[in-house]
Amino acid sequence: AEIAIVPDAEAAGELAAEQIARLVARRPDAVLGLATGSTPLTTWTALARRSLDLSAARGFALDEYVGLPAGHPESYRAVITREVVEPLGLTPSHVHVPGDDGGELAGAGERYEAAIAAAGGVDLQILGIGRTGHIGFNEPGSSLASRTRIKTLTEATRADNARFFDSPDQVPRHCLTQGLGTILDARQLVLLAFGEAKAGAIAGAVEGPVSASSPGSAIQLHPKVLVIVDEAAASRLQ
Ligand code: F6R
Repeated sequence: AEIAIVPDAEAAGELAAEQIARLVARRPDAVLGLATGSTPLTTWTALARRSLDLSAARGFALDEYVGLPAGHPESYRAVITREVVEPLGLTPSHVHVPGDDGGELAGAGERYEAAIAAAGGVDLQILGIGRTGHIGFNEPGSSLASRTRIKTLTEATRADNARFFDSPDQVPRHCLTQGLGTILDARQLVLLAFGEAKAGAIAGAVEGPVSASSPGSAIQLHPKVLVIVDEAAASRLQ
């Protein structure tokens, strides 16, 4: 992977936004892979400042909780609408989240894979990484060849995401997530991470052995990866 160590999350967001802007200039209907959580927020704000016409672009979210009431403000459908679609001017019908097609939960993974394929595949996937080393919600033990499917969140990830909910027990136990194989099919990956708490996960992803126990390490199998980190997240790289 190419590693960019930047001063802070704002600089990281600028650099990631630059990648997206370059892609969309070349391909207005580009397919963007969208991450949620805190990490990509500076990317979306940096991109919004550029006021690009993104109305033809398409988007696929990495993951979604299973079991939240429809319209819950912390569902990733709601988060993507609020933080990405509206501020960036994406066309709502062009943006997809696993399980949001109105069909049965059984088969949702296969249908999501088919929708991505029908769009021609993801051009650029934005990724964050969890303390457990997950990308998407592929927790340790996820097959490197996995596709979109239902997974169980680890207690560590539920605890990390409790900040978005009124109480920790409201964090769903299950999710639908793109698999590591799905993520690796994107034509370009941009992985961002900030802060000391991500240093171990970044070292494992970038330099650790490629292993299902360290899901982020799957990026080492991809030919075009940009890792954008601040000094703290880079602190355990050799
Ligand atoms: C979010 C996702 C997760 C997050 C990761 C880091 O769609 O797939 O892998 O990127 O949990 O979360 P933050 O950015 O909140 O630290």
